[in-house]
Amino acid sequence: MNVVSGLRSRALEFLADGLSHDMLIDDVQDMARFSRDWSGDHFAVPMAVARPRSAQELSTLMQRCYAKGIRAAPQGGLTGLVAGAVAAPDRREIVVSLERMARVRSVNPIDFAMIVEAGCVLETAKRAAEAQQCFLPITFGAQGSCHVGGNVATNAGGFNVLRYGMTRDLVLGLEVVLADGRIWDGLRTLRKDNRGYDLKQLFIGSEGTLGIITAIAFKLFPKPTQIETAWIGLRSVEDAMAFYAKARRSCSDLLSAFELILRDGLEVALRARPDLPDPLAGVYPVYVLMELSASGSVDLAGMMESALADAGDAIADGVIAKSLAQTERMWLYREIMVEAQGNGGRYLRTDVSIPISTLADFLTEALAKLGSALPHAKPVAYGHVGDGNIHLNVAPPLDFAAEQMEPLFHEAEAIIFAAVDRFGGSISAEHGIGRLKQKAFLARLDDVSLDLANQLKKALDPRSILGMGRILPDDSNPPL
Ligand code: FAD
Ligand code: LAC
Ligand code: ZN
Repeated sequence: MNVVSGLRSRALEFLADGLSHDMLIDDVQDMARFSRDWSGDHFAVPMAVARPRSAQELSTLMQRCYAKGIRAAPQGGLTGLVAGAVAAPDRREIVVSLERMARVRSVNPIDFAMIVEAGCVLETAKRAAEAQQCFLPITFGAQGSCHVGGNVATNAGGFNVLRYGMTRDLVLGLEVVLADGRIWDGLRTLRKDNRGYDLKQLFIGSEGTLGIITAIAFKLFPKPTQIETAWIGLRSVEDAMAFYAKARRSCSDLLSAFELILRDGLEVALRARPDLPDPLAGVYPVYVLMELSASGSVDLAGMMESALADAGDAIADGVIAKSLAQTERMWLYREIMVEAQGNGGRYLRTDVSIPISTLADFLTEALAKLGSALPHAKPVAYGHVGDGNIHLNVAPPLDFAAEQMEPLFHEAEAIIFAAVDRFGGSISAEHGIGRLKQKAFLARLDDVSLDLANQLKKALDPRSILGMGRILPDDSNPPL
């Protein structure tokens, strides 16, 4: 046994002592499913995986980690896209999986609120809300796998942000286990509460670096009883954005999704699923997938029809779904495109935002620069443009040599981020920083913000054991 594995087994013995017998897993095979994320790009075997059943059990675990300075990283459904949930590569970190804390504790249709444990799969939480005629409006492709704790930790966005806000806007209260094992109980369903600092905000979007979220009180909305979906073809991104501004007004702000997809993105889906037809008779450079939703007696179908009719020249063609199957088909193109864009291999993902009014100019500039500097690269642009959020991704050409990938991604990202900077945007609209975006994040962070962030981290995690190397640097594990 070498020195490192000797230290590891002593740390594990110390942890196991005082915990229930099945809380820790340290067999490499058994830890496999906790070692790789959804993208498949990040893999690391942790020192051990801990699976607490309650905040109390987690509290005991963290007290022991804190006593010995053992590092821990929370893990949800592993669908995060910035390498935050997989362990650091040095096997000095335990992963804390929340999968055993997955209960929906309550749904209150009068409070329009629910309390859910952090390890609950988002889709399960949404179904529980719907059973009480309520709606939890966090909606995106990974909802069948991601956990609500992961959504809060990353302040997830998704399709419905333009209507309901980011996850942060949907959190009424939290329960959090701190790095030293204390339990912070901020689990309330009050709509209004101005007693001092709003501490829950510190943990939302902190990507597991300030505390481990164990339960969440979510704000709910009336479950939509009508949904209208349209697939629209347009001549330019400018036209799409002009149509967005008009439709948002004319549809009484009932717009609940406005997704942009460029033709290249649709072609990715059509190539992956040749059985699916082109959604419109003609071919257009730009598409919008638009959704209106409402509860109560609103003529939503009439609203969608007039929005399309009144758009005039702004839209070239469009079709409104007439059945659930057609609606699902429209969203299927979006989903397949996301899954197929890398041809099963690696690709560069970005999730930038720019002011909505300059999104079209940003895209023109960034695509032109990518085209001239990297003519062989394949950009795929799509996103939640109602929020000014674009995923401008770059796939390598087929049969591209593995050793050329990193330089290509690096150069493409530099081009995209430089354009984001010029337009006063953000290099992360929704996926967060994790370890993947850390260099780019720190390069743009001003001294005062960095100082405040470091002080916050020190106050909440004085022994530097929680989610180390995510967001803020960790010298022993350099960023990816
Ligand atoms: P994980 O990946 O397990 O963890 C993510 C981070 O949160 C890690 O840093 C981890 O340490 C931390 N964490 C996890 N649980 C906790 C906890 N209980 N307490 C404290 N920290 C914790 N994101 C969007 O914003 N919008 C989208 O539209 C969107 N679409 C997606 C589509 C697909 C197909 C995929 C794969 C991902 C998508 N994402 C999207 C990424 C998004 O960040 C995640 O899907 C989700 O929010 C993460 O949840 P998770 O449970 O998988 O977290
Ligand atoms: C999406 C994810 C990748 O919008 O954010 O599909
Ligand atoms: Zn997204």
